[in-house]
Amino acid sequence: MTANATSELARTLPGKAYCDERVFVREREAIFARTWQYVGHVEKVRNPGDYFVADVAGESLLVVRSVGGMLRAFFNVCAHRGARFASGEGCRKRFSCPYHAWSYDTEGRLVGATNADDVPGFRLQDYGLQACRIEELHGLVFVNLDPGAAPLREDMAGLCERLVEYAPGLPELTFVHRTQADVHGNWKIAVENYSECYHCAIVHKSFFAEGKVSAASYRIVPYGRWHEHLAQSGYEVRGDEGSAHAGEFGAWWMWPNFAVQTHPGYLVNVRQWVPLAVDSSRVTVDWFMPVDAATDEHRAEFREHAATVFQEDIPLIEAVQRGIESRAYKPGPLMVDRDKTGMSEHAVQAIQALWRKSMETNI
Ligand code: FES
Ligand SMILES: [Fe+2]
Repeated sequence: MTANATSELARTLPGKAYCDERVFVREREAIFARTWQYVGHVEKVRNPGDYFVADVAGESLLVVRSVGGMLRAFFNVCAHRGARFASGEGCRKRFSCPYHAWSYDTEGRLVGATNADDVPGFRLQDYGLQACRIEELHGLVFVNLDPGAAPLREDMAGLCERLVEYAPGLPELTFVHRTQADVHGNWKIAVENYSECYHCAIVHKSFFAEGKVSAASYRIVPYGRWHEHLAQSGYEVRGDEGSAHAGEFGAWWMWPNFAVQTHPGYLVNVRQWVPLAVDSSRVTVDWFMPVDAATDEHRAEFREHAATVFQEDIPLIEAVQRGIESRAYKPGPLMVDRDKTGMSEHAVQAIQALWRKSMETNI
């Protein structure tokens, strides 16, 4: 191979992308405060007054279904002296600040402030909550801290149709199981790990075993800001046999840190990689099923997933973080093959391109 050919290979990012505190701080503004961030399944806010509090890019947000039936998100900052006024989840028509009991309705309007009538010039209507963007995509609720962000369906053009096709019942499903771990690794290492199947046959022996998901058929197709993963599977189909794709494995990754996955047998999970620090991330997998459909067999499958595919990736992510922290680390080649097969690392390359663009860097 000539030196020229070598230099044309796509490479992993430099170490500072995964280890530098300043990069981490900038990512919060340039990426997490400007992208659609998943906050929960719509079942958490199905009825008027349903609410929950979510953390996004260092902000606490109140997500609520208004009395008028609209999804709303507000910064969790009281308009009086700034206290966080909401916590947890539940159902209510008014949110009262614990400090001086200013009270807001589900549209974020200030509807009560003690002693207001005796303060000259004070008008309730001048002090509502600050709203932030919120949208639903096929049962999944996302917020965006950037008021100028493109609408979610435009940002992820074509994705909703794929979710409707592969997981038609997703908006009606109910949460059944959570697997979660804090990992010593930058969030990008975890996302990159998810976005290539070069390691699948080596590491995930039970998931990609004979008769289960076929590693040879695994394909990842990048569509701009979302990627589609599809693979054939020999899993027994249970549940929604009516879906043309019930026997397939499918996953849809969304820039920057979220994916929906259809597990063979019409089990659906969503996963999120949330940065905790430059070198640590929280990985969460939430499983959804039709209401009252979960059996002991399903629960055994959730446990098996937690003990195999989920667990198997963690030491790899941590090993990469430790290696990248070494003075000896230098960017290595991404193994992008001609046909973008299941072994190819082209999706990692695509994610790194999105990262460079967002961060306005050429590193
Ligand atoms: S800070 Fe909320 S009522 Fe005073
Ligand atoms: Fe993996």
